[in-house]
Amino acid sequence: MLSTTQHNTLSLLDSARAVGSRAYCPYSDFPVGAAVDTDIGRFTGCNIENASFGLAVCAERVALFTAVAAGATRIDHLAVSCLKAGDADPPGSRMPCGACRQVITEFMSQDATVTVDGAGVWRVGDLLPQAFQLESKPFLDAAVELSGSAPPA
Ligand code: THU
Repeated sequence: MLSTTQHNTLSLLDSARAVGSRAYCPYSDFPVGAAVDTDIGRFTGCNIENASFGLAVCAERVALFTAVAAGATRIDHLAVSCLKAGDADPPGSRMPCGACRQVITEFMSQDATVTVDGAGVWRVGDLLPQAFQLESKPFLDAAVELSGSAPPA
């Protein structure tokens, strides 16, 4: 884990906190907000639940998928905030779930960072070591082809 002072991510975290207030979470009452900075700007997402519980989508995936759908080809940083995680809750209550870590791995480079409100900053590669992978890195490779330059590590 990196020190939070190594990153000037306050405003991205503020965006994550703000969109968390729009979470639709009547079943869990656990609002989450996420924000990503990309090559075409900032995108945000909140968790959206459903009466069929398994259909809930996490804030991180809403933010990432919205960015991809808008045409982002590089996602530089992600911030996430669990608005109701309390001091008495376990540290894991603030962390991205396993499914979101897999999705993060698809769209962000191993050395990109994820800021978790109240918990610190992580390298993507440290959040999900040995991630499942089919192709080399379709999204990241496409970004390299478009820009014609080497990817961030
Ligand atoms: N949730 C997220 O939005 N992100 C995570 O990484 C973990 C969990 C949401 C899903 C559900 O709406 C609520 O938090 C409780 O699990």
